[in-house]
Amino acid sequence: MLNQINSIEEYNIAYKASIENPETFWDEIANTFVWRKKFSSVLEWNFTEPKIEWFKDGKLNITDTCIEQHANSTPEKIAIIWEPNDPNENFRTLTYLQLFTQVKKCANVLIKNGICKGDKVCIYMPMVPEAAVAMLACARIGAIHSVVFAGFSAQSLRDRINDSSCKLIITADAVYRGSKLIELKKIVDEALLQCPSIKTCLVLNHRNISTYMKSERDKFWNDEMQNVSDENEAEIMDAESPLFILYTSGSTGKPKGLLHTTAGYMVYTAYTFKNVFNYKPDEIYCCTADIGWITGHSYIIYGPLANGATTLMFEGIPTYPDHGRFWDIIDKHNVNIFYTAPTAIRSLEAFGTDILENKNLSSLRVLGTVGEPINEEAWNWYFENIGKKNCPIVDTWWQTETGGILISPIAHVTKIKPAFATLPLPGIQPVLVDENGNEIIENNVEGNLCIKFPWPGIARSIYGNHERFKSTYFSDYPNMYFTGDGSKRDEDGYYRITGRVDDIIKVSGHRIGTGEVEDAINMHDCVVESAVVGFPHEIKGQGIYAFIICNKETADAEKIKNEIKIHVSNLIGSFAKPEKIQIVTGLPKTRSGKIMRRILRKIADGEKEKFGDISTLLDPNIVEKIISEKK
Ligand code: WTA
Repeated sequence: MLNQINSIEEYNIAYKASIENPETFWDEIANTFVWRKKFSSVLEWNFTEPKIEWFKDGKLNITDTCIEQHANSTPEKIAIIWEPNDPNENFRTLTYLQLFTQVKKCANVLIKNGICKGDKVCIYMPMVPEAAVAMLACARIGAIHSVVFAGFSAQSLRDRINDSSCKLIITADAVYRGSKLIELKKIVDEALLQCPSIKTCLVLNHRNISTYMKSERDKFWNDEMQNVSDENEAEIMDAESPLFILYTSGSTGKPKGLLHTTAGYMVYTAYTFKNVFNYKPDEIYCCTADIGWITGHSYIIYGPLANGATTLMFEGIPTYPDHGRFWDIIDKHNVNIFYTAPTAIRSLEAFGTDILENKNLSSLRVLGTVGEPINEEAWNWYFENIGKKNCPIVDTWWQTETGGILISPIAHVTKIKPAFATLPLPGIQPVLVDENGNEIIENNVEGNLCIKFPWPGIARSIYGNHERFKSTYFSDYPNMYFTGDGSKRDEDGYYRITGRVDDIIKVSGHRIGTGEVEDAINMHDCVVESAVVGFPHEIKGQGIYAFIICNKETADAEKIKNEIKIHVSNLIGSFAKPEKIQIVTGLPKTRSGKIMRRILRKIADGEKEKFGDISTLLDPNIVEKIISEKK
């Protein structure tokens, strides 16, 4: 078992040690994992290239730690509980031994289909245990998985497959999300029309719907799994071998494939899982994220499994068959630790508390949130009605890039404060910088959040574009990782994340680049130009507001707006659909042609004056005009 912090004194000691002597600190933790060969150095780094290497020369396979050791010591312990979309269907469980067997078989299926160490495998799957099996099977043979959230459109899937030249894709025939059937294989078929690198498509027959199968290319998962042995030798990997690529939105340009490597990621997700959630052996842990996002990778799969935990995967949505579903799951499976997004809490809060009356939530010990700032009201509702004031809420701040949680309370250790992510975890050295790039030392301040020292879980690069990695994260402030978030720090040194300071928005916790949405909108025939900003949304945190200039007489504005919504859903995914669209005759641009989004954000937010200096605008009158055109 990993070092576990059980009191604030222990936190203070661990934190101090991790700052004064990071190498000794992480060396000790890393030694508690399964290695095939011990590393020769703990950390080599610079933030200028940037180059970050943890546990160099170490050899391992992450499935030794995440599965095999537990399959040997506690084979009957449940690794994964699967709760289906429809509560009337049977739930499933996989013990560590069963998971191990499945992963070895799936590894053999991948090998049989020509996948070798270093090859890329795309996973476009519903929330089913096979998705976890597929990820771990890739890891076992040294293939790099690229999981794409199964809410993305065919086009987004295609672009992600092509960016990293995936050779094989794993999907399912279809999935129900709530009462809606989504035919995943059809979306994959459409994407694969333009994916020359894909040689094989494995299809899990999940809903038994009849599916088009292209001969040679498409094979059923079940058939393939039946015809392979359950003996498989793990590939021995270097500590810094790539483990996965995960695409995420940036401020500008196309989504980028963040690259995470093996040993550091394993050590960091395992350590943070155990500590932040104060995980105790035999507890049932449930995270409602999707495996298509980093939270699913780190805190449904790798972190919990490395600790031998029981992790619950939920296939459905919080409002199906009714808005008590999360609470039913907690009751049914005696969940001890529950981790979800503020959006989900706000949307369920809106239904009131009647539904909670006959739910037994007494198994709960720890609650968590992730993905976006949580407002105090939602925090209090969660704390009082779900946790019954007995469960600390860990408001965990982190990012796809950070691999694991960086700033968060440690459950039952850190004194919590509504809406505060509180303190940095051991090993994390946050700094706030002012607009001139100077570090702000005092408390009771606000600034841009940077981290000045590496931690094992940090991404190592953007796949195929190290220059972009450097310019995005390590160029604004020399020798620091810039998070893109703003934060306050109060008199106790507690952090309160205020949100993105760039053009990324978080809609229901989904990370979306405004540029991506603009690109999609601009591809509509009627659109000349567009500008997209986020606006505060009561439930979703942020909503998407699009200002568009049309090329035709907009006699039927409503029709165009609806078309654009459908168009964005088709090009990106329905989660990226603009909530509000305003047709305008011009956009506030500087003389050099740059759109002043700050002004649009204010207009979207309902501001009618106080726009600051608008004299640099090419046409300052445009601001008034846009406001008057707003309905
Ligand atoms: C935001 C999700 C406030 C933040 C794990 C960050 C948060 C972005 C919190 C990363 C939190 C995440 N409080 N904001 N507890 N957690 N964020 O890559 O803006 O999908 O930069 O990773 O989510 O989003 P990503």
